[in-house]
Amino acid sequence: MSEIVPIITAKRDGGELTDAQVDWVVRAYTAGQVSEPQMAALLMAIVLRGMTRAETARWTTAMIDSGTRMDLSAITRPTVDKHSTGGVGDKITLPLAPLVAACGAAVPQLSGRGLGHTGGTLDKLEAIPGWRADVPLPAMLRQLEDVGAVVCAAGPDLAPADRKMYALRDVTGTVESIPLIASSIMSKKIAEGAGGLVLDVKVGGGAFMKTLPDARALARAMVDLGADAGLPTVALLTGMDTPLGMMVGNALEVEESVAVLAGGGPADVRDLTLVLAREMLDAAGLPDADPAARLADGSAMDHWRRMIRAQGGDPHAALPRAVETETLRAHEGGVVERVDALAVGLAVWRLGAGRSAPGQSVQAGAGIELHVRPGDPVRAGDALATLHSDTPERFEPALAGLRDGIVVGSAVADTLVGVLDRIGG
Ligand code: URA
Repeated sequence: MSEIVPIITAKRDGGELTDAQVDWVVRAYTAGQVSEPQMAALLMAIVLRGMTRAETARWTTAMIDSGTRMDLSAITRPTVDKHSTGGVGDKITLPLAPLVAACGAAVPQLSGRGLGHTGGTLDKLEAIPGWRADVPLPAMLRQLEDVGAVVCAAGPDLAPADRKMYALRDVTGTVESIPLIASSIMSKKIAEGAGGLVLDVKVGGGAFMKTLPDARALARAMVDLGADAGLPTVALLTGMDTPLGMMVGNALEVEESVAVLAGGGPADVRDLTLVLAREMLDAAGLPDADPAARLADGSAMDHWRRMIRAQGGDPHAALPRAVETETLRAHEGGVVERVDALAVGLAVWRLGAGRSAPGQSVQAGAGIELHVRPGDPVRAGDALATLHSDTPERFEPALAGLRDGIVVGSAVADTLVGVLDRIGG
């Protein structure tokens, strides 16, 4: 048991952990042989001191080996996955997975539920009546082969060390560390067993990484971990100063995703979906596939419906709507200077769309419909956003933050939007 103390002090003093130390600590913590305070101390030392590329790679392998790697070798289509580090209004997985499936690849998306201001993909899909996130492995493999896309909850065997460690990081101020974030994300993605991976690393006020240099460092760390594990990985850096699309909230984001699959939807959501689809299809060895054509001819929508039906959902059912709405209006005329992603994300969370502790339920209909983008001209009294919630007492706290987040002035602020960089490949 005392083996842990020299490991903590070595890292506290800026040392490099040996392979044996990394293997031991990840295994012992998962087995309950290292206490939560001891692990918290080690994690904080890692936040402050960092980890080398070799330590991070070993840490990632140890987390993968705490569970079982999925075997996708029975799938006849090329497999490729995508991961976003999380942003406000980031519903891209919803149109992207069926679109890439319609182009001939198979997309195994093991996703999580949201915690904090960036919603989880499973929470969004659970707004669809009947849809189930839990898919047993044989059914998942069948769906991957038949439909080409599955978005479901990760089973307990996928990197269980990360699951336990992430819960501890979340309550000990130890999330914000590039080696810890990179190893957490990549352990799950490598264990998932896909043949290629495309990362969408968000950068800006509504993302984990607030600046381009930090986002580049995270992207580089993840691309290197992929390379070390034999998983070809490419990362796009994309702006997250302002929300993606006009809808933020679970059912609202499904609605907007379906609009994209129908050939419409906001340009930023549609463009990013197509850019990521192109990267995924290249990674899958399908350079001739034409995702724009598959959106236009309805085959992406067809794959969406099959994907939803395969998991018990009714793609034609009306989506839940919140009981109450409230409108935020402009006090004065001018131009929309900025729509702050973090402010919108927090307001949506306050409206009941997100959770503050694991296991809490979320309101399917809660969220915000934006009526303006940065640069839009507005007159006094124009609607800037419509807030949706089942619990009207949530409107005031949500509005309090939102008033400073949607700013009307005289000039558009500089913001990070669109694709900013590409790393790897
Ligand atoms: N997402 C993860 O899965 N892990 C992190 O550490 C951060 C974001």
